[in-house]
Amino acid sequence: MIVVTGASGQLGRLVIASLLKRVPANQIVAAVRSPEKVADLAALGVIVKQADYSQPDALEQAFAGADKVLLISSSEVGQRLAQHRNVIDAAKRAGVSLIAYTSLLHADRSPLALADEHKATEAYLAGSGIPFVLLRNGWYSENYLASVPAALAHDAFIGCAGEGRIASAARADYADAAAVVLTRAEQAGKVYELAGDEAYTLSELASELSRQAGKPVPYVNLPEAEFKGALLGAGLPEPLADLLANSDSGASQGGLFDDSHTLSALIGRPTTSLSTLITAALA
Ligand SMILES: NC(=O)c1ccc[n+]([C@@H]2O[C@H](COP(=O)([O-])OP(=O)(O)OC[C@H]3O[C@@H](n4cnc5c(N)ncnc54)[C@H](OP(=O)(O)O)[C@@H]3O)[C@@H](O)[C@H]2O)c1
Repeated sequence: MIVVTGASGQLGRLVIASLLKRVPANQIVAAVRSPEKVADLAALGVIVKQADYSQPDALEQAFAGADKVLLISSSEVGQRLAQHRNVIDAAKRAGVSLIAYTSLLHADRSPLALADEHKATEAYLAGSGIPFVLLRNGWYSENYLASVPAALAHDAFIGCAGEGRIASAARADYADAAAVVLTRAEQAGKVYELAGDEAYTLSELASELSRQAGKPVPYVNLPEAEFKGALLGAGLPEPLADLLANSDSGASQGGLFDDSHTLSALIGRPTTSLSTLITAALA
């Protein structure tokens, strides 16, 4: 039995879809805080269990009888360490044989502020005594694609990543990697640094966007504080604007770069190209 937490989220749903190609539905558990969100998965035969990261007893019940648990990092930045500890403690009490954790690319040396909770979770896992495997996911390409409509409207793609090269991949690529790791033997102790095959600067992203959109959408590099201000002006909440500007700044220091090709080797195919994803975003 394989449990996927955060299964109602974008990554979680893709992991379940990928697992369904590999194991029978009745060996997959979707652990979610709102079961009504995954009625479609239940209809496919996936077992659905209610489990909020802040409810230790419900987590333990969701993990009962499970062999492996994929802990998809919580989206509630700032509360994640406490929530992840609850998941790890519950998995230990339930006696699972392996936890896979979606961490951040090069979490141990990343300049991104986002790395702090991941590093702390990795340390907690290491002290837990449960066998674990780290899926250190790089940047989702979709993070940048979300800015495409605004870039087209304003004829500029803004950021503060400078000349930093970004080896992003699609969520579906990271999801396939998780499904492979969850269904392959002898994964305990492994650390996968997962990133896209191609690395690009935001100027290169803007050039490809310009080419496909048929009009110039130049990249405009801003100081971090100005970029954050622009995100706030566009209506983003302060913590998210802060996180995105800090992450772009981390990218300028190489924090989102990796050329190990571990991800494509694991999934047995090239990662989804930026150009393909831009085409999909424009469609
Ligand atoms: N590498 C990157 O570029 C990148 C970018 C964004 C996020 N991330 C990280 O990767 C994770 C997965 O990404 P995603 O795109 O799938 O995010 P997402 O669509 O926002 O999904 C987050 C999932 O976490 C669940 N969750 C949040 N708080 C919870 C709680 N207290 N108890 C139980 N479940 C909880 C959500 O449940 P509900 O459906 O009930 O809300 C949802 O299923 C994120 O949570 C975040 O840690 C990475």
